[in-house]
Amino acid sequence: MKFFVETIGCQMNVNDSDKITDYLLSEGLEYADDVLQADLVILNTCSVRFSAEHKAYSFLGRLSEQKDKNPRLIAGVVGCMAQYAGKSIKNRFKFLDFVLGAKELDKFAGVVSKFIETGGVRKATRKSGVFEYVTIMRGCENFCSYCIVPYVRGPEQSVSVDEILAETEKCVKRGAKEIILLGQNVNSYNYKNIDFTGLLKEVSLINGLERIRFMTNHPKDFPDELIDEIAANDKICKYIHLPMQSASDYVLNRMNRKYTYGKYKLLVEKIRNKIPRINITSDIIIGFPGETDDDFKETLRAAEDLKFGGLFIFKYSPRPNTSAYKLKDDVSTAVKKERHSVLLERSNEISKELNGYYINSEEKVLVDAYANGICESRNSQNIKIFFNSAKDLTGKTVTVKITKVFANSMSGDMREN
Ligand code: 5AD
Ligand code: SF4
Repeated sequence: MKFFVETIGCQMNVNDSDKITDYLLSEGLEYADDVLQADLVILNTCSVRFSAEHKAYSFLGRLSEQKDKNPRLIAGVVGCMAQYAGKSIKNRFKFLDFVLGAKELDKFAGVVSKFIETGGVRKATRKSGVFEYVTIMRGCENFCSYCIVPYVRGPEQSVSVDEILAETEKCVKRGAKEIILLGQNVNSYNYKNIDFTGLLKEVSLINGLERIRFMTNHPKDFPDELIDEIAANDKICKYIHLPMQSASDYVLNRMNRKYTYGKYKLLVEKIRNKIPRINITSDIIIGFPGETDDDFKETLRAAEDLKFGGLFIFKYSPRPNTSAYKLKDDVSTAVKKERHSVLLERSNEISKELNGYYINSEEKVLVDAYANGICESRNSQNIKIFFNSAKDLTGKTVTVKITKVFANSMSGDMREN
């Protein structure tokens, strides 16, 4: 029996899909090369923006045609959309064999085992990547006014320190060099009085683990001890994803973000003072209800002032249940598009300018992948770096002298060590 997992959405979903894959492989199923070859198809969904839901509906439309041709096909939907719109998905796509929400994923094995013929003989395992995700907390209770996550994923729950250490050790044994600790807001991690800084200290003691990254950190509660730990601990990557969302205090307040632009800026300055060469990236929502041209200009100016290493810019998308859903989505699509492209263009210029400082610098990079004579790697700042190599160096750490920079990557020559 062959399976195919399609994943939409964030790293948390990628991590859940990896676990689904691990389970199916352990039951003796095999990867299908593409969805059309599969006997079992799982769609892992996201509901953070309408566009993500639209993707899922198109996928299910195509899957329905596949099922018409192959009535023995088993198909299921999991993840965030399955959690909050499971009933309507089942009604609309009657061919589905199961729909399982993001909070019920622990039931996956029980549910799917009814449908699969287990191979029994071959107990394969998934090949570990150079970096692997480890979920350290689930849910969110910040209730940013635009965000559906707290309604879908529920209140915050920290995974026990022991489980996190065991999971990380398992990944390292399978060959991972870098671990990315995941949570909607890792700063609020708390398990039996061990906070996120304490957790980082424990995880970094694991032998064979070379790098630790994490996401996402909410700017409202970034403790000094955490900044000091990132600065002092060599295993921790000098990279922080710190969503600002907007630089207009009017918009930030309506978003329920619990900080002002002034406070955000002070935090960025403090982090930069304490951690030299830190790369800070951010998320921005443009076109939130009531966002005026002036509000947008404040965000644009902030992007210029703070010089982010990269920006993820999203057009506001009204989400059911959220408190902003009651506000009029009054920024037109045309204006959202315009603001999006202005900010993106400026942000790309800034990233390229920042990358310019790396010219001639010798960067220690970890190689993620190799194809056509080119190694793809990242430095501690999480910037993509390409270099030519006759050998596949995946998983190795080497030194690369930077010769060329672009907005979202750099390239250079490997030094013989
Ligand atoms: N519309 C647009 N972007 C959103 N995000 C979250 N909810 C919405 C929404 N309703 C963005 C935020 C968050 C990122 C993961 O997705 O910027 O940080
Ligand atoms: Fe959504 Fe805000 Fe929680 Fe992030 S912190 S998941 S944006 S509610």
